[in-house]
Amino acid sequence: MQKLRTQVAIVGAGPAGLVLAHLLHLDGIESIVIENQSRHYIENRVRAGLLEQGSADVLIETGVGERLQRECLMHHGLFLKFNREMHRIDFEALVDRTVMIYAQQEVIKDLVAARLDYGAPLFFEVSQVSVHELDATRPRVRFTHAGEAQEIECDYIAGCDGHYGVCRPAMPNLEVFERHYPFGWLGILAEAPPARDELVYTHHERGFALLTMRTRQVSRLYLQCAPDEDIKHWSDERIWDELRIRVEGGEQWRLPEGPIFQKGITAMTSSVVEPMQYGRLFIAGDAAHIVPPTGAKGMNLAIADVRVLARALRRHYKSGNGDLLRDYSKVCLRRVWKVQRFSWWMTALLHRFPDDNEFDQRRQLAELDYVTSSQAAARTLAENYVGLPMEWE
Ligand code: DHB
Repeated sequence: MQKLRTQVAIVGAGPAGLVLAHLLHLDGIESIVIENQSRHYIENRVRAGLLEQGSADVLIETGVGERLQRECLMHHGLFLKFNREMHRIDFEALVDRTVMIYAQQEVIKDLVAARLDYGAPLFFEVSQVSVHELDATRPRVRFTHAGEAQEIECDYIAGCDGHYGVCRPAMPNLEVFERHYPFGWLGILAEAPPARDELVYTHHERGFALLTMRTRQVSRLYLQCAPDEDIKHWSDERIWDELRIRVEGGEQWRLPEGPIFQKGITAMTSSVVEPMQYGRLFIAGDAAHIVPPTGAKGMNLAIADVRVLARALRRHYKSGNGDLLRDYSKVCLRRVWKVQRFSWWMTALLHRFPDDNEFDQRRQLAELDYVTSSQAAARTLAENYVGLPMEWE
């Protein structure tokens, strides 16, 4: 077995793992990143594409935001559509913050390029990953790469390997808090200009629909569907018909159409594990929590976690003070639970639940009316949507 040595072994090259590796590198802390997928796969995996201002700032301030600044679409508000009427939530007026549209796989490409540029280790297509001796002073990560067994001896392991990764099940001390939703999202990418220049979240009696975008030429569109929906039953024509029914009406604009070049179904779950640490293993991002996609918090929460972890590791390595490492889970979970609450609330506000009756429908419409008429309620939405302040940590 080939032996490697580093300070922090990072399992997983998604947003959490790659941002962590980058922040550590800037602080002179060594890491090795391992990823079981190929570079091509992670650089093309379609996920949400919305960055809170705070997440974008992390990338910009650490030198990996150049393309982001050039190519992103800056959004100063969003639309809520219900009862066939559009209502705008103005982030700038309400909370003086913005969000940016920039696809997750573009963030990944920028981070991979930076890592390879500074010549730091990043192994793709590894297999048989396992973590060992988590409560010893020298934990280990074993894996196979290019047919060769490898072992990393390190000071700490960062488990950034997602909901189905190996790090989370290796923790004996976890409590899981979970909710599954009785619906999913059907998402498409289409070569069609966005209908509006900001996102449109639509409440409709046939179910939720969301109009978002990737560029000025490419739209990203979502429809609420059954949780076990088979994509084979959704021809392009059926998708456009259903989108038009849910989002058009009451106004002049029409939904621009174009060739669909990607389709997929997303399940909807809220999940948190506590604590986010066992011994010298720290978990971050989807390994620790899943949010339903409404509000696009997944990548933002991952970036928030690893900011906290990088700061704690920096303090430990620079001054020998382990207080922030000890507090890692507690500090992260304060944000995680507030973001869980918000993602659940946006989901509950806008979706049709199978056991809803007329009362529930009217209650949802009343809440939408309230959120779009009360400054206080609109500000609450905006404050959460653009990202809760880092200073609250
Ligand atoms: C996107 C996805 C979301 O779930 C959301 O709430 C906003 C934007 C997106 O993919 O662009």
